[in-house]
Amino acid sequence: MTDIAGKKIILGITGGVAAYKAAECVRRLGDYGIDVHVVMTQAACGFITPATLQALSGNPVHTDMWDTRIPNAMAHIELSRDKAAIVIAPATANFMAKLAHGQADDLLSTLCLARECALLVAPAMNRQMWEHPATRRNVAQLQQDDVAVLGPASGDQACGETGNGRMLEAQEIADAVAAFLAPKTLAGVRVLMTAGPTFEPIDAVRGITNRSSGKMGYAIARAAIGAGAKVTLVSGPSSQPLPAGAVVTQVQSAADMFEAVKRHARQADVFIGVAAVADYRVDKPHEHKIKKTEKAQLTLKLVPNPDILGWVAAQPKAPFTVGFAAESQHLETYADEKRRRKKVDMIVANLAQNAIGADDNEVMLLDDGGTHKLERAPKEAVARDIVAHLARLYRTRNPSPSR
Ligand code: C5P
Repeated sequence: MTDIAGKKIILGITGGVAAYKAAECVRRLGDYGIDVHVVMTQAACGFITPATLQALSGNPVHTDMWDTRIPNAMAHIELSRDKAAIVIAPATANFMAKLAHGQADDLLSTLCLARECALLVAPAMNRQMWEHPATRRNVAQLQQDDVAVLGPASGDQACGETGNGRMLEAQEIADAVAAFLAPKTLAGVRVLMTAGPTFEPIDAVRGITNRSSGKMGYAIARAAIGAGAKVTLVSGPSSQPLPAGAVVTQVQSAADMFEAVKRHARQADVFIGVAAVADYRVDKPHEHKIKKTEKAQLTLKLVPNPDILGWVAAQPKAPFTVGFAAESQHLETYADEKRRRKKVDMIVANLAQNAIGADDNEVMLLDDGGTHKLERAPKEAVARDIVAHLARLYRTRNPSPSR
């Protein structure tokens, strides 16, 4: 159970073509265990039906002020009272103009004006509308009023043009909302971490790598950022979207990863080694592409790579260290043996066959206090639990915000 699971939010959908992405948003917010209650404007109902959002969220969808399902006919007040935030996605130029001027002429805008909770908006509009001085003024006003503006992104637009104003992807919105709702248990803590696979060159075009996707590491980076940490991420090659807010160094080989970690280790309060670092590299990679010969066999000499996690844990003023153990059998025994051998503060253990490349994960956490099993869940939710656990352990040892 994550600290944000069970929190209730209103997802307000206004009338832009990006409304179709709101359906996916409900799913991704649900991955975090967030309880989503949808409120739609009339124009939004022209793009996507309330029935779709109701089915996906599992909650009734509200579209107008005169909703008799609210006992005292005060939908515009009641609906937001037990909510942690109102998130408007997509937020059209028109709706943002209404918000900036305090207008309240439909259920959603009235809810925003009468709210006691935070308001986040994910703008979605044509690039000319986004660049228009009126929109610029409205965005500045909203930011001054403590409204969080998520995005927008730049790219292809539904109108066929390209530029600023495109709504963030559903996953990015869900991540930003989850980060916003997360308790700030690592406020000010400097986290250094590795993620993804490594790529060990054989020649100019070939190499040895593994099937680590970077999903778990990036999810942990996002969770740590959500908890208020300053995250430096050293990442091997991954096609995952980079975690917003992290300082990222992209590397290829274990040797490059080690150099990058060595550069940053001294400034770290916490080190998390999530990367699936290759145990061996080719001794002397060929500068040019190796030519195929008909008869001869090709023998590669492999030499061991440095143990990055082990090196960090062995430093005189080592940060709080967290390692991962991917095993295919005897998970708890092997993981605990690894924890003691590498002298790390906490090990996250998972079955390799369950974890690599998957969207879900089932892990156990091992530390001096014993073994804690977490339920199988999407990697984003598992990441939040891992961060919550390590923050508790870290805070027990370092009660002040940073060392
Ligand atoms: O020994 P093993 O590779 O199973 O240990 C896994 C843990 O050690 C992971 O946290 C991984 O990131 C880290 N590791 C490392 N450098 C290596 C090998 C593993 O940091 N060369």
